[in-house]
Amino acid sequence: MIHIPKGTKDVLPAESYKWQYIEGKARQISKIYNLKEIRTPTFEHTELFQRGVGETTDVVNKEMYTFRDKGDRSITLKPEGTAGVARSFIENGLSSAPMPLKTFYIIPAFRYERPQAGRLREFHQFGVEVYGSATPDTDAEVIAVANDLIASLGLKAKLYINSIGCACCRKKYNQALQEYLRPNLDKMCADCQSRFDKNPMRILDCKVPECKQINQNAPTIIEYLCEDCQAHFLAVQNYLKIAGIDYAVNPNIVRGLDYYTRTVFEFVSEQIGSQGTVLGGGRYDGLIEQIGGPSTPAVGFAAGLERLLLLMENTGVAFPEEPAPTVYLAGMDDACRQKAFEIAVALRKAGIPCEVDHMNRSIKAQFKYADKLQAGYVAVIGGNELAQGVMNVKNMSDSTQESVPFEQATAYFSR
Ligand code: HAM
Repeated sequence: MIHIPKGTKDVLPAESYKWQYIEGKARQISKIYNLKEIRTPTFEHTELFQRGVGETTDVVNKEMYTFRDKGDRSITLKPEGTAGVARSFIENGLSSAPMPLKTFYIIPAFRYERPQAGRLREFHQFGVEVYGSATPDTDAEVIAVANDLIASLGLKAKLYINSIGCACCRKKYNQALQEYLRPNLDKMCADCQSRFDKNPMRILDCKVPECKQINQNAPTIIEYLCEDCQAHFLAVQNYLKIAGIDYAVNPNIVRGLDYYTRTVFEFVSEQIGSQGTVLGGGRYDGLIEQIGGPSTPAVGFAAGLERLLLLMENTGVAFPEEPAPTVYLAGMDDACRQKAFEIAVALRKAGIPCEVDHMNRSIKAQFKYADKLQAGYVAVIGGNELAQGVMNVKNMSDSTQESVPFEQATAYFSR
């Protein structure tokens, strides 16, 4: 038998309505916020992620699905959505569209990570990217989209925000951080040692206990924000208050991707194990320029659909019932089954969900199957009914029965 690749999952027919429900909510909220869907390819040139997401990140360094195609190009399955959308923004000249340009996407993403609960090698993201506005209300609006998504699914997750400043504040901060870390560097893990010169702030994200302990008393970026970044961060918080969104400032939120500037945020739950971040994002004012476009401020986030689903399941949030067929048309013999098929054609044209027998089951077995499908009605056509041009309709919730002429079937079930 050929097995599914490690770290991937099938969504089976009995489960897919849960995905549709979450995706439906994401689309609904996107509409309310006037976000328009953008679809970009599942694979891009590897260079996009190297330059966009950043050479010092785990995602680019260790986790990308990269291969040479038959034309000897280096191709990568996208590990996240932001870089592809940014590439499309530049390539399609979207900077000349009226700003802000507000987009969303629902995508598969690929990272070669060690699989565990909430961590897969192929996973799915609902993401939002807004271009062209540097104002703090835009950051707050993007966070509000995320907050609405989580609330609309009946979930609770804690919002942590931070500002990692601009290149200017970060330069000063990195120096201070390096000074603090240097005496203990030899006690830190190999990853942190290699991050020390390239991207010291990422050290704060390390989960190794020794590193975590050393990091505990490290200076925070907030102490090093320049006046403009500080004002921006305070204004974002003011807008979050206006929106009635609870948050906590957490100076350890530094994010794992290189493109962020100023506001960063994560929604975290303690109820799905160690992979508790259900959603993460932030501002990335330098990315478009970094990959060859015109200087364009931007802000966005992505939520992991598997983690949202896991959180819903772990906290017992009810999914709306999957819609069952309105009616099951049961036929006793071939002639009756043919009539049932004919009526089903008419009902389906009228948009009425219905089901017929395809397995040559007995009437009793058809009833049993209709019950499993949770059909609202079972319409039985036997020899007598066929002769009289009627079907015997049983309401499955109260067991009442009625005789309904064939020609009235559509009118009867569209009530
Ligand atoms: P990220 O934090 O790398 O950010 O991923 C966002 C979300 O994707 C995570 O919070 C998590 O829910 C989900 N996720 C990430 N990796 C996995 C995995 N291996 N298995 C399951 N779920 C996963 C980004 O991807 C940025 N592009 C977000 C963004 C958009 N920032 C600005 N715009």
